[in-house]
Amino acid sequence: MNDLLAIDVISRFIHVATAIVMVGGTVFMRFVLMPAAAELSQAEHDQLRQRLLARWKRVVHGGIGMFIVSGFYNFVQALPKHKGDGLYHGLIGTKILLAFAIFFIASALVGRSATFEKMRQQRAKWMGLIVLLSAVIVGISGFVKVRGTVVKVEASKTVSNF
Ligand code: HEM
Repeated sequence: MNDLLAIDVISRFIHVATAIVMVGGTVFMRFVLMPAAAELSQAEHDQLRQRLLARWKRVVHGGIGMFIVSGFYNFVQALPKHKGDGLYHGLIGTKILLAFAIFFIASALVGRSATFEKMRQQRAKWMGLIVLLSAVIVGISGFVKVRGTVVKVEASKTVSNF
C-alpha cells in the first residue's frame, strides 16, 4: 500500500474532473450555445458574450492551474514506473505540448490583449480546434493508462504488463 495513495487519488480526481468541466464546457459553448446565441440581435449577442466570458474566464484560469499542478504531480508519480519506456515518454511529451497549446488558445480567447483580437474574431474555429486537440489528448491519456507499464525482459524484447 502506497503512502501517497490518498494524494494520488485526489490528484487523479482533480485532473479528470477538470478535464470533464473544461472540455465539456467548451463543447457545450461551441456546439450548443454559440449557434443559439447567433439567433439573437447583435446587441443582445454582444451583451451575452461579454457576461459569459467574464465568468468563463475564471473557470479557464482556475482549470489551467489545476491541470498543471495535478498533471505534473501525476507525471512525477508515474516516472519511476516508466523508466526507459520511450513510447510512454513520447506520448506524454506530445500530450503535454498539446495541452499547453490548448492553454494558450483558451487564454487568448478569454483575454483582452489586442494582439489576439484576430483569434477572438474567429472564435468558433479556435474552439473547434480546442475540442479536436482535447480529443487527441484524452485518447493519448487513455491509451498510456490502459497500456500500463512495460517490463524489460531482455535487450531486444519487451512485454506489456497490463
Ligand atoms: C487539456 C488538458 C488536459 C486534459 C484534457 C487531460 C486529460 C487527462 C485524462 C483524461 C487522463 C486519464 C486519467 C486516468 O485515466 O486516470 C490524464 C492523465 C494524465 N495526465 Fe492529463 N490532461 C491534460 C493536461 C495535462 C497536463 C498539462 C499534464 C502535465 C503537466 C498532464 C499529465 C498527465 C499524466 C502524467 C497523466 C497520467 C498518465 C498515466 O496513466 O501514466 N495532463 N489526463
